[in-house]
Amino acid sequence: MTGETDALDRPADPQYRVETCSATREREFSMRLYINIDHVATVRQARQTDEPDPVRAAVLAELGGADGLTVHLREDRRHIQDRDVELLLRTARTPINLELAVTEGVLDLAESWLPYQATLVPEKRQEVTTEGGLNVGEEAAERIGNTLERLHAVGIRTSLFIDPDPESVRRSADLDPTAVELHTGEYANARPGQEALDRLGRLRAAAELARGLGMAVHAGHGLTYENVIPVAAIPDLEELNIGHSVVSRSVFVGMERAVREMKALILRAREG
Ligand code: PXP
Repeated sequence: MTGETDALDRPADPQYRVETCSATREREFSMRLYINIDHVATVRQARQTDEPDPVRAAVLAELGGADGLTVHLREDRRHIQDRDVELLLRTARTPINLELAVTEGVLDLAESWLPYQATLVPEKRQEVTTEGGLNVGEEAAERIGNTLERLHAVGIRTSLFIDPDPESVRRSADLDPTAVELHTGEYANARPGQEALDRLGRLRAAAELARGLGMAVHAGHGLTYENVIPVAAIPDLEELNIGHSVVSRSVFVGMERAVREMKALILRAREG
């Protein structure tokens, strides 16, 4: 079949990456929803078996309207396995955002796998989930900067997961990633009322500053069907990463519907 691309080869094909980039750019002023499927793998790993399969969940998430898929390949491999990422890269119809710590082993894999996007996150073995944003202080800057350079050199879009404070945003801009992902955990954990409003204000200000400094702005962590709308309405944001709440709902209504419902909330927020 000359001239046709084997579907399985598509994600490694530079053309696929170009198409993906322009499709993503066109949607800049709406909002992309990336679904984090780690917790499908968490259930599988609880029994060390082969179900539920996050790769199958990815197909359903895409049918539900996911614009991309996020997986965190942790050093301890507690949920997502190398096999999951490899299969996703060969079969997904949407871009893959690989979350990784700034460590050699996973970075080597990212360079050989060539996901569309890599998000650098902090990682501690004892934590239940990612606790805070990446330390982008002076002592970490060189390591992060070198990692970004390696990822950019092989054409991977980059993002730094950071706390929504002006100093972290400015320090991140100095490191020159494609994007920052603002940690929404503090907002998600706030008491309803003034506290939540204050933390939302911090997110809004950080997003405006980051975009003004030339970075794309993403957000995520702890977002749910109940708290997502005010965040989705922040005009400087262009991508949300949501996992736990969607995977939890999918247990009751199925993955496709869970994603469709989240996407509908986000798009409604965006329309005002
Ligand atoms: N963004 C980052 C960087 C994360 O580490 C996580 C959690 O893995 C998420 C977003 C998604 O968070 P949640 O599962 O709470 O929706």
